[in-house]
Amino acid sequence: MDAFELLKADHKKVAELFDLLETASGKRKLDVFKRIKSELEIHTHVEETILYPALEKPEETHDLTLEAYEEHNVVKTLLAELSGAKSATDEWQAKAKVLRENVEHHVKEEENELFDKADDALSDEEIESLGELMAAEKARKQGQAVPKKADTKDKTKKGPAKPGIISKIADFIGLGSSTSKKAAKKTPAKRKTAATKSPTKAGKKSRAAVSKRSSAKARSMRASGSKSSGAAKKQSGARTRNKSTRKRASRS
Ligand SMILES: [Fe+2]
Repeated sequence: MDAFELLKADHKKVAELFDLLETASGKRKLDVFKRIKSELEIHTHVEETILYPALEKPEETHDLTLEAYEEHNVVKTLLAELSGAKSATDEWQAKAKVLRENVEHHVKEEENELFDKADDALSDEEIESLGELMAAEKARKQGQAVPKKADTKDKTKKGPAKPGIISKIADFIGLGSSTSKKAAKKTPAKRKTAATKSPTKAGKKSRAAVSKRSSAKARSMRASGSKSSGAAKKQSGARTRNKSTRKRASRS
């Protein structure tokens, strides 16, 4: 499951509930608010425990991720202040409007900036694994059957000594201890670098000046190196196609 598609579906559902909140009246308005609160609590929980930890380290997503945590805190404060109301007074409705504006701002920043940069920072396999972990955690929080055992292996880095971030996150939320042990027995491989990304992606990162970790020359040399590997070339091509498809879909 694509992590970003899962989160975008959550965003859409919450937007629909906010529309409903505006048209509802009386007790119905408070009932709709409870649904919004529940959706946002689960959504922020899976982002903070699963997605954001994977995005804190990459340089291109570091700052936006820290900002996202802070925006969540503002939303949580507003949710707490709105909870427990016995009626939807004018003041309550004004605060609910501010909540919606904050959520919309946060969603816009995630969908237009953070997810795009995260798409560059993570491999397709990592994005799928994070999506499966978030779906499983959402189901667990909602008291539903976990849809599928999440594949928590870091397919891009089969390191023997240290489990990767996906395995660590899976272990942290209780979904990955056995799989991380299996992964530890496998042969090590490098984390995705510019060498395994398409030249187009490397060029994009250079233009955006989001990474100072390597010079354009070094990146170019690594990219050339990857071209000599048929497997790497195939992997890079497949990833580029997948990501292009995703980005086209997000623009539509
Ligand atoms: Fe968020």
